[in-house]
Amino acid sequence: MAHKVTLIPGDGIGPEVAAATVRAVNATGVRIDWETAELTADIIEKSGASLPAHVLESLERTGVGLKGPVTTPVAGGFKSVNVALRKTLDLFANVRPVFTLPGLKTRFQDVNIDMVIFRENTEDLYSGLEHEVVRDVVESLKIITRYASMRIANYAFAYARKNGRRKVTAVHKANIMKLSDGLFIRCCREVATEYPDIAYNELIVDNAAMQLVMRPETFDILLLPNLYGDIVSDLAAGLVGGLGVVPGANMGEKCAVFEAVHGSAPDIAGHGIANPTALMSSAILMLRYLGEGAAADRLQKAVMAAYAEGTHLTRDVGGSATTDEFTDAVIRHLG
Ligand code: NAI
Repeated sequence: MAHKVTLIPGDGIGPEVAAATVRAVNATGVRIDWETAELTADIIEKSGASLPAHVLESLERTGVGLKGPVTTPVAGGFKSVNVALRKTLDLFANVRPVFTLPGLKTRFQDVNIDMVIFRENTEDLYSGLEHEVVRDVVESLKIITRYASMRIANYAFAYARKNGRRKVTAVHKANIMKLSDGLFIRCCREVATEYPDIAYNELIVDNAAMQLVMRPETFDILLLPNLYGDIVSDLAAGLVGGLGVVPGANMGEKCAVFEAVHGSAPDIAGHGIANPTALMSSAILMLRYLGEGAAADRLQKAVMAAYAEGTHLTRDVGGSATTDEFTDAVIRHLG
């Protein structure tokens, strides 16, 4: 039977990388009934809702989404669709595997990087609770709860055990935010005691940023509240080739949305040169979630082989191929 998946191509380069990804996933032979839900900055502006009803209704029905980027206005305009999605569908865990691609030239190409970042996805400074106290003084509320902290910590440790990972590093700033980050870190410690087989350590976020750049190969699983998770995952992406190559998953209890970490890249949209690796790799995570592990492994190997070959890479990673040429190379390697 075909799996039902909501496909949200998004805008900017979204439709280009989404078409490439659908082509690669379909080439694995897994039967997917793609239900396309259009979502662009224009549609959001016209409908007046960050998360229009047709998108929500489709995701609630299929329980699985593959999503491209959607443009979000900065400093004003509508609220981020991604934040709306995560909150409405309670997608509490943002999971971002970051790993070295063979043959890809980066500053860290001789280092074997293989980490998975678990970012709490629903609270912290993303609660959207901001107000002007008096003129020219604004306050933004950072919400940390035991409920959400325990949930993400449990999720990260359970993943570590299931996937043979050895160490979880919790990242915080509890030396300054003693109450909020203090609560987060106490929850991480509590969960760690239930996993004596997994090593556990803690790093203050500024030190974590430095260690990630100096010794990225020593990290295994990172566990962070929302804001640090956001920043650190982009830093980590930069170690392995940038936003064009890293996947992401937003996991909830009833629903999961797989999405590239990058934005809509208006500077290159419409030119057919966007790198579809990030969305393809997100689709690989989706295939695993759907129980299609063998197809996921094959597509993963094909992407790796295309990088190892190095002749059909897109511009952002040092090549000159178009989105379609790279996708053709991946499909060729599927055999
Ligand atoms: P961006 O990720 O769109 O672009 C940053 C740089 O990376 C640009 O030079 C772009 O050309 C390049 N780039 C990104 N993805 C690429 C790909 N797949 N292949 C080749 N090059 C790629 O970030 P920016 O410019 O900050 O944001 C643009 C818009 O996207 C904004 O409206 C932002 O709010 C939105 N955005 C949406 C996200 C989402 O829907 N998940 C996530 C991040 C940003």
